[in-house]
Amino acid sequence: MSLTPTLEALIRQMPKTELHLHIEGSLEPELMFAIAQRNQIKLRFNSVEEVRAAYDFHNLQSFLDIYYEGAQVLIHQQDFYDLTRAYLDKMASENVRHVEIFFDPQTHTERGVAFETVIKGIHQALVDAQSAYGISSRLILCFLRHLSETEAMLTLEQALPFKQWITAVGLDSSEVGHPPEKFKTVFDRARNEGFLTVAHAGEEGPPEYIWQALDLLKVSRIDHGVRCLEDAALMERLKQARMPLTVCPLSNIKLRVFDDMRQHNLKTLLAQGLCVTINSDDPAYFGGYVTENYLAVQNALNLSVEQLIQLAKNSFEASFLSEAEKAPHIRELDHLLQECAISTR
Ligand code: ADE
Ligand code: ZN
Repeated sequence: MSLTPTLEALIRQMPKTELHLHIEGSLEPELMFAIAQRNQIKLRFNSVEEVRAAYDFHNLQSFLDIYYEGAQVLIHQQDFYDLTRAYLDKMASENVRHVEIFFDPQTHTERGVAFETVIKGIHQALVDAQSAYGISSRLILCFLRHLSETEAMLTLEQALPFKQWITAVGLDSSEVGHPPEKFKTVFDRARNEGFLTVAHAGEEGPPEYIWQALDLLKVSRIDHGVRCLEDAALMERLKQARMPLTVCPLSNIKLRVFDDMRQHNLKTLLAQGLCVTINSDDPAYFGGYVTENYLAVQNALNLSVEQLIQLAKNSFEASFLSEAEKAPHIRELDHLLQECAISTR
């Protein structure tokens, strides 16, 4: 079934945030080639088409292998700037008003790129997008969970001089076999230093990892979290706490968390009162930015106007903006809902 033009227009028009975006996952093949060329790096692919053809994943790990490979072209501050700026230019065209961006410093420091080089490039692009487009932002430093807690601690120490630019720490990379409990000490330290916390949990890993993220890492949001539906007590906990889930529908299909978008549980989670949000994860690899994620979900699950507007409102509610910063966006969404009600009367 195809979308009615009015619902598509509503999705495009709604003010939105994006809360689950790995900046390295927004590296489009065209930019990968351009940066590789200026850094004199030889890729194993001969064309943009060949790169895209390699994006055929069967699980999270098969994606991560190619995602870390792509990130190797990023060396200079300008590379991180161009990467981030390209993403923000796109967001400006999609009526995205606020973004909370993950970056993976260890993917770069492991190759000898200085932490400072990475963060200065990303930060400058965020500052420039605020002036150019009025897009507000927060930055989230993710620890790679396939590495040790000691390495995460070193990364946290490298981040301390840039504390004023980083709002939260998170946990990403290969989930199964690397439970949140492995990182309890470094998350305790991060919270003591004043960082908020989030964690990927329940993407491929079991509901137990979501419990650990809540109870041990004291997270403010769960990234993905879709496997929560397997555990009724966990569903109740998430609902009572109004704990946001940053769900990434196209990612879940590409990484085979669900076979088909029609099988995605997002609508069920929303109907059960969870604070679900829609995000793109790694848009250059999964075939769509945030708007395309909304459109794909709408197409497959046939959400109502109220549900679409609720998802956009959730995205502001779940963000790290202050209540005063959230309020005008939420009011605008309430007005949009009223206008939709009038036009369908
Ligand atoms: N790093 C980039 N994308 C990721 C995902 N979907 N899950 C875990 N780690 C990631
Ligand atoms: Zn992710």
